[in-house]
Amino acid sequence: MEKKPFVTLKQLKEIEKTYPTPFYLYDEKGIRENAARLKQAFAWNKGYKEYFAVKATPNPFLLNLLKEMGCGTDCSSMTELMMSKACGFKGHDIMFSSNDTPPEEFAYAEKLGAIINLDDITHIECLEQTLGYIPETISCRFNPGGVFKVSNDIMDNPGDSKYGMTTEQMFQAFKILKDKGAKHFGIHAFLASNTVTLEYYPMLAKILFELAVRLQEETGAHVEFINLSGGIGIPYRPDQEPNDILAIGDGVRKVYEEVLVPAGMDDVAICTELGRFMMGPYGALITKAIHEKHTHKEYVGVDACAVNLMRPAMYGAYHHVTVMGKEDENNDKFAIDRMLPEICKGDLLFIHDTGAHGFAMGYNYNGKLKSAELLLKQDGSVEMIRRAETPEDYFATFDFCDILKDID
Ligand SMILES: Cc1ncc(COP(=O)(O)O)c(C=O)c1O
Repeated sequence: MEKKPFVTLKQLKEIEKTYPTPFYLYDEKGIRENAARLKQAFAWNKGYKEYFAVKATPNPFLLNLLKEMGCGTDCSSMTELMMSKACGFKGHDIMFSSNDTPPEEFAYAEKLGAIINLDDITHIECLEQTLGYIPETISCRFNPGGVFKVSNDIMDNPGDSKYGMTTEQMFQAFKILKDKGAKHFGIHAFLASNTVTLEYYPMLAKILFELAVRLQEETGAHVEFINLSGGIGIPYRPDQEPNDILAIGDGVRKVYEEVLVPAGMDDVAICTELGRFMMGPYGALITKAIHEKHTHKEYVGVDACAVNLMRPAMYGAYHHVTVMGKEDENNDKFAIDRMLPEICKGDLLFIHDTGAHGFAMGYNYNGKLKSAELLLKQDGSVEMIRRAETPEDYFATFDFCDILKDID
C-alpha cells in the first residue's frame, strides 16, 4: 500500500519555525479513527475493552486522547501505573501485566484497584505476602510452550519465552487463587508480535477460549475476561496490506460462538492490550538532512539518530522514509542500502510508522538528547505534548552533589 505522510511539506515548514527538528509528530485524527474502528470490530462483545499498552507510547496527552475513545491502560511498571493514575484511569480501567514484578508495584497496582495479571505461579505467594490477601479479581498469563505458527512467515517461539505459566501451572494457579478468595478470573497470552494477518487473534482466541472452558469446568473458577493482549501488527513496508480490524474482530466472534457460547460462557468479556496497532502508523519522526558523506558508501547525515529511533539499529527494522517535497519516496542508519530519491541538505524526511515503540525506546547513548513530541490536531493546529530534553535533563541525576558545578 502506498505510504503517504499525514502532513504536508507546507505544514512541516510551518511547524519547524517553532519546533526545530528532530521531533515526533502524532496524528490525532488517525488515532481517533483507528480507535473507533477497533471498538466497532469488537462491538459484538458486551464487555470489550482495549487497554492501551503504555510502553508503546508513554505520553499522557495521548493516553488522555485514548481515554476519551473508551480505552483503559495496560501497565508494566510503577511509572506507567503512576502516569495512568495521573491521567485519571482508575480501578479496572488499568491492567497490570508485568513480569519479575517488585512487591511494591503489586501494592501500588492494588491501591489503584487495577486488575493484576500474574506472570508466574510463584507470584501468588508474593502478592499475598505483599497485600495480606488475594484480590477478588485476578488474571493469569498463559504460555503454551512450543512454536506458535500462524503462517509460514509468521511464527514465534513461546517455548523460548520467559513469560507466562504452563498449562499445568494455570490449573494449579486457578485452584490456589480460588481457595484464597479470588472470585473473578481472567486469562491472558501474547504469542506473536507484529502479526500482519487476519489469522493471529482468532487462532490465539481459540487456544485461550478452549483453555478457559477447561479451567472453568475443572476448577469451578468463573472466567470473566479473556485478554488477547498485543501483537496485531502494522504494514511497515509499502508492499504489505494493513490488517482489516473488522475482519479480525469478526474472526474472534466466530470462535467465541463456536467455543464459549456452547459452554454457557457467553458472558465472557474480551480485552486487548494493543500498542503498535493503536499508535504505530499515527506517529512519525521528522528529521532534516544536514550532511552528505561520500566514502565507501554514500551517506546522508540527518539530525535524528538511534536515540530518537532505536528499532532499525536494534532489530534491523524497516521504516519507510518519505523525502518531503520530492515526488518519489522510499529510509543512521535508518535506511541501509536503500534506494532513495536524491536528498539535499535541508530536506525534511518523514520516517513513517514510528508512533509505537519509537520515542519510548530512546536512550541517551553518546550524550544525545531525546526530541520533543508534537500532536497534529484535527483542526490542523499543533500542540507540544512533550518538550525536547535539555542538557540540564541529561545532567539532572548528578544533582545530589556538586561535581558538575562548573558546567556551562
Ligand atoms: C504484556 C504486553 N501487552 C501488550 C503489548 C503491546 O504489544 P504490541 O505493541 O505488539 O501490540 C506488549 C508489548 O511488548 C506487552 O509486553
